[in-house]
Amino acid sequence: MKRYGKYIKPYLSAFIIGPILMVVEVLGEIMLPKFMASIINEGVVPHSTAVIVKYGLFMILTAAIMFIGGTGGAYFGAKASINFAADLRKDAFANVQKFSFNNIDKFSTGSIVTRLTNDITQVQNMINMMLRMMLRAPGMLIGALIMAFIMNARLAVVVLAIMPLLIGTIIVVIKFAFPRFQALQTKIDKLNSTVRESVTNVRVIKSFVRGDFEQEKFEKANGDLKETSLKAFKVIITAMPLMAFFMNATTLLVVWFGGKQIIVGDMPVGDLTAFITYITQILTSLLMSSMMILQSSRAIASAKRINEVIDTKTDISDDDALYPDKVVSSGSVEFKDVTFRYYKHSGEPVLNNINLKIESGETVGIIGSTGSGKTTLVSLIARLYDPDAGEVLVDGVNVKDYSLYNLREAVSMVLQKNVLFSGSILENLRWGKEEATDEEIREVAKIAEADGFVTGFKEGYETDLGQGGVNVSGGQKQRLCIARALLKNPKILILDDSTSAVDTATERNIRSKLTKTNKDTTKIIIAQRISSVIDADKIVVLDDGQIVGLGTHDELMNSCEAYKEIYYSQMDKEVMANG
Ligand SMILES: Nc1ncnc2c1ncn2[C@@H]1O[C@H](COP(=O)(O)OP(=O)(O)O)[C@@H](O)[C@H]1O
Ligand SMILES: [Mg+2]
Repeated sequence: MKRYGKYIKPYLSAFIIGPILMVVEVLGEIMLPKFMASIINEGVVPHSTAVIVKYGLFMILTAAIMFIGGTGGAYFGAKASINFAADLRKDAFANVQKFSFNNIDKFSTGSIVTRLTNDITQVQNMINMMLRMMLRAPGMLIGALIMAFIMNARLAVVVLAIMPLLIGTIIVVIKFAFPRFQALQTKIDKLNSTVRESVTNVRVIKSFVRGDFEQEKFEKANGDLKETSLKAFKVIITAMPLMAFFMNATTLLVVWFGGKQIIVGDMPVGDLTAFITYITQILTSLLMSSMMILQSSRAIASAKRINEVIDTKTDISDDDALYPDKVVSSGSVEFKDVTFRYYKHSGEPVLNNINLKIESGETVGIIGSTGSGKTTLVSLIARLYDPDAGEVLVDGVNVKDYSLYNLREAVSMVLQKNVLFSGSILENLRWGKEEATDEEIREVAKIAEADGFVTGFKEGYETDLGQGGVNVSGGQKQRLCIARALLKNPKILILDDSTSAVDTATERNIRSKLTKTNKDTTKIIIAQRISSVIDADKIVVLDDGQIVGLGTHDELMNSCEAYKEIYYSQMDKEVMANG
């Protein structure tokens, strides 16, 4: 609760005025039956128009004040809760932006989305409801009871006698419904993630003709949600007629006993109508309270999930950097006894005691089977992950001692799973450097062999890419990503299997242009094909998280069995393909 203080503080006045205005409305609600009784007793029964007009005016005035209280209360309630949620969402989002890959791996993207949208809305709704009901429900209950007692204590005792039954029913309802409503929240989550997964992966699903399977998965989640909702609402549905029965029974008793009092002249007729209204108010307030408690069960579950996001401290920060102002100047890289695992407490390390020196301006190839740790190795350079043991140095300085900004400004990494955003090609490339001129952009696009096909498009660089860059081919996408990475003019350029969908001839062109234009840039090229790295200054052969070979192509052909194996297997394929 304490953590939420800072979201309440800026809107404290709304948080206070809202409930107070609701009390104004309640006061009016309680006064109205009293005026009504007076109209009947002092106006209608003795036929006095003047009294009717007098109390009629009182009632209009009360209604006007209630209107102001009600709308004002709703306004401040909405203002407080909407602002609260917006600020909370902003902080949660800012924290997610700081998340390391490791943090994101733990939550899953889908769950982060649900927490920042659905869950926060759930909390917002609860706050809004609380602000409006918190004082209103108990206020109405107590107010109506007091008025009933003042009006006719003997009759009020009848109502009081029935109260335990009502409250008992409500407690039973809450006891059964509370856990069911909480279960509802987890089922909604499940459905959300199922829908998100199938919609984002619709291309894969269609190409594997897995539509039926996805449909089944959806139907299961949807069915689960339906069952759970039905179970939750069944409790409420059974409770409603029961409550109505108690209400009618109470009314009947009041009319019975009240009628007797009227006959003997102990009670004016008007008081009876007022009394019945008070009973309704008492019941309504009890119902409101129980609904409030049930709604809050879901909001509490949501708040817990939001807290998890806010409380997660990123495990990669530059708070302890020794040289926060230092910028990378030459771009040499060194791995010293580096060991890394994704799951800190179990299994074999993904990188095992890696030692590797890369001079600035060098071109280094990395070859190795899938899962051998290539991507992981290069991820450590830009501190996407931190090593468990050993250190990674850039320009001879531990990467942890740079500010993250300065380090990442110097390192461009074209990821294996690269993404383009919706927007034009130009906008996408500018991502690498906001202030880049059109000439600069064309220049890097030429190096990445993208200028040719982009200018071939009807709208050239203004061509709009759909979300995720859907309307360019895989190879074109890769070339655009390389151009974007080059625009940053990085000291260290990492291409992680970034030309896998580009044909060999184009790939060769990109490489030779890169060597010419980015002479001082350290280039690390991860590749499947040996042809992609054959003329690198040195090639690293990774196997199962360990370096099993290091040298030029010729050196490795003489010394490294694993390398030779890869080479010959690829030669065979080429011969087959060409033969
Ligand atoms: N985010 C991750 N969480 C857990 N394990 C991972 C993650 N990324 C990769 N791995 C595991 O680490 C190993 C090395 O993966 P990776 O570096 O991607 O290999 P490569 O790029 O050589 O194919 C593999 O066993 C892979 O399953
Ligand atoms: Mg990889």
